[in-house]
Amino acid sequence: MSHNKDIELKPVPTHVAIIMDGNGRWAKSHGLERTVGHVEGVNTVHRITQAASDMGVKYLTLYAFSTENWNRPQEEVDALLNLISIALEQETPALIENNAKLEIIGDIDRMPDDARQRLNRSMEATAHGTGLTVVVAFSYSSRWEITRACAKLAQEAIEGKIKPEEITDEVISQHLTTAPYPDPDLLIRTGGEMRVSNFLLWQIAYSEIIVSPTYWPAYTVEEFQANIDAYRGRERRFGRTSEQVSSDK
Ligand code: IPE
Ligand code: IPE
Ligand code: MG
Repeated sequence: MSHNKDIELKPVPTHVAIIMDGNGRWAKSHGLERTVGHVEGVNTVHRITQAASDMGVKYLTLYAFSTENWNRPQEEVDALLNLISIALEQETPALIENNAKLEIIGDIDRMPDDARQRLNRSMEATAHGTGLTVVVAFSYSSRWEITRACAKLAQEAIEGKIKPEEITDEVISQHLTTAPYPDPDLLIRTGGEMRVSNFLLWQIAYSEIIVSPTYWPAYTVEEFQANIDAYRGRERRFGRTSEQVSSDK
């Protein structure tokens, strides 16, 4: 697929974002309840986080729960909320051991109080990590965050803190929940759907995209490694020609 004449692989991506999809279908295909798929999906999070840390990835953003997922049956929403907060707590020692840091993007005010408290404890406990940053997207959607950024900018303009002509794409990036992180180099979606489902729409402008047919609970470290290698073989042109990109090296 790559048009790159260089045989040498490019570096590991700095930022990998993952749409962890297919838990329900995985469960169904095994004759199990959807929630069992979510429980199994947590094990995949553990494996892939470890692998990303070992490979030297700096940022791993995981889409755990979208704004639209609030519209699922209440039972499933409750199970997911419960599972996410328990999983974050359970994963904290492993994160600390790996010198990793946990952060959250999304509308966490919608999270139940006890879950939010647990989450805050996990974030505090890992705040000093200097290795991998794991960014969990919870109650997140790109349109939610872009709308919020627009409102903040409008307010700043009213207050005279910013002029319309000062609004650049960097300024917009700085008003998104992802302001501290570079844009994803690689976006992986498991579960085979060819869509973005309201995830990081602004930030993936030039991300490489890989859709894996594997359901998230069945996604392995080997496949993750293969996806990373496929990324490393691609040529990113950012709108320029292949010749321009090659002569830059
Ligand atoms: C992804 O798996 C997990 C969440 C969206 C929370 P799904 O629950 O969407 O599983 P499928 O896509 O129905 O198989
Ligand atoms: C995307 O999966 C959201 C997460 C993985 C958290 P969905 O299952 O919600 O996406 P759609 O509904 O198939 O687009
Ligand atoms: Mg799904």
